[in-house]
Amino acid sequence: MCGIFGYVGHRDALKILMDGLKRLEYRGYDSSGVVVQNGHGLVAAKRRGRLDALEAEVRSRPFGGHTGLGHTRWATHGGVSDANAHPHFSCDGKIAVVHNGIIENFAELRKDLERRHRFLSGTDTEVIPHLVEELYEQAEGDILFAVTLAVGRLRGSWAMGVLHADHPNRLSVARVNCPLVLGLGDGENFLASDIPSLLPYTRRVIPLDENELSTIGPEGIQIFDRHLTAKARAPLDIDWTAEAAGKNGHPHFMAQEIDAQPRTVAAEVEAWGRSVPDLRLARDVDRVMVIACGTAWHAGLVAKAALEEMVRIPVEVGLASELRYGDHPFGPRTLAFAISQSGETADTLASVRMARESGSPILALTNVKGCTLAREADHVLYMRAGPETGVAATKSYTSQLVNILFLALHLGRERGTLSPERFEALTREAGFLGTHIGRILRQDPLVRQCARTFQEGYGFMFMGRRYNLATAYEGALKMKEITYLPSEGYGAGEMKHGPLSLVDERMVCVAITPRGRVKEKMISNIQEVRSRGGRIVSVATEGDHAVAEVSDHVFEIPSCEEMFSPILAVIPLQLLAYHRAVGLGRDVDRPRNLAKSVTVE
Ligand code: F6R
Repeated sequence: MCGIFGYVGHRDALKILMDGLKRLEYRGYDSSGVVVQNGHGLVAAKRRGRLDALEAEVRSRPFGGHTGLGHTRWATHGGVSDANAHPHFSCDGKIAVVHNGIIENFAELRKDLERRHRFLSGTDTEVIPHLVEELYEQAEGDILFAVTLAVGRLRGSWAMGVLHADHPNRLSVARVNCPLVLGLGDGENFLASDIPSLLPYTRRVIPLDENELSTIGPEGIQIFDRHLTAKARAPLDIDWTAEAAGKNGHPHFMAQEIDAQPRTVAAEVEAWGRSVPDLRLARDVDRVMVIACGTAWHAGLVAKAALEEMVRIPVEVGLASELRYGDHPFGPRTLAFAISQSGETADTLASVRMARESGSPILALTNVKGCTLAREADHVLYMRAGPETGVAATKSYTSQLVNILFLALHLGRERGTLSPERFEALTREAGFLGTHIGRILRQDPLVRQCARTFQEGYGFMFMGRRYNLATAYEGALKMKEITYLPSEGYGAGEMKHGPLSLVDERMVCVAITPRGRVKEKMISNIQEVRSRGGRIVSVATEGDHAVAEVSDHVFEIPSCEEMFSPILAVIPLQLLAYHRAVGLGRDVDRPRNLAKSVTVE
């Protein structure tokens, strides 16, 4: 949450900062700001609201200068206002700071600093420039040393960039518990909150580790630990392209990312066919504890169904935000399986650290090379979804599911709970998933029409069972996060225990009813909703008349083994949420109050 971009080099810093912020806007869009050292001093602009507001402000104001910092904010402390937008400044106006994270002890620091400094905002961040200003003298004008001293007084989480007017061509950065990536160019260098925002400029990156600091100049980057001892770090070469991070002719990132799924899912399946990752870590454990949030937690529910069916091993699915404050018995015989698209989710990382302290082996499934989760895990499965920019997760979810199902299949075969014949049949069938998704996407006009039918005054509920309980939760999450309409997912068998009272003729019940062990039960649950006047939209296997007969609308998925059905069934639900949101005029890629990467608690 919050995005930071920094540049030192020979080009027009303002242009590059604005371009970088555009790519980071998904991380927060309450306000934005930039600061550039233009040879005479610092020149800055900041505005509440979307980046467009800042763009309009700086369009007619050439800043000059080749070094600068930018920020896009998701408000934590202090309301959404111009004054609370970053950068924040020291009293002498010479030190500018952009920050992602939370300074937990800001109140006590501010109380003390206020005796000597004038605060202009209600943010936690503003203590940083004033602290650095005080410590600058003690650091004898060494700006990185002053930042190190300041960091020593802070509690909480931060990725910060600091620019001093008297140190042109130099950015100082520090990180604790928030992502920060350095990008290496030719005679120019960058810093950013994520890798995709750097892709137009460089694919050579160094993600900073916990407690590291760095000083960035046009000719080089130096990295230090908390005691300012220099550290050698080899850059990573990233194989994502800037095109994969674009809209490619689609009106929204989300539409592009939904459409990419025939390719991304096929790429996942092919990768498992080419080489099987080392699964030693998971071979001898007695139980699995999934650690995840949001959509990744839904993927965890599919992991539970698949691992319990294929590997006959008990699986719990922990909400990381709860897990981290609970007393869950991790231990050497419990595999901690952390699922996170970004690999930076604060609660997931905290739970992973807790699991590690209890001796659990850590297996991570993530989309981002070099992310914090990957660096802290014992073994990493990397997804091949490519950069995902829309705040609503789509292609990363189906990528997670493919990896989870293959993990279950391979572990089942290795542990002898899945016969070689069944393994062969299932992996062969997985080869068709990409093509199947392509076929489902061709129903887009039908889904759009359905979304129009339920345009005004309808509520949505989603129900599913077994493998598709997760699909019900995920369908509901997609719908609520981008349309702002109340929508909930339920286990279909739970309807009688309360949710049925929500049903009337203005309630659309989306029933995920592919062929499989629970289909007949689902049809009974559909009947219960219909007889109370509810409208039924079903996701059913192609040609399944029994489901069609009890539904107002049907989206079809090709016939498949039940374990693969969540990968297919979620596609029409992503489209339904998308079209409903577009119909309502929502900002699909940047839903209100949200940010893609939840790096604060
Ligand atoms: C919903 C969504 C979120 C994320 C959640 C975890 O569409 O994107 O619910 O799934 O914030 O994020 P990661 O997977 O990055 O840990």
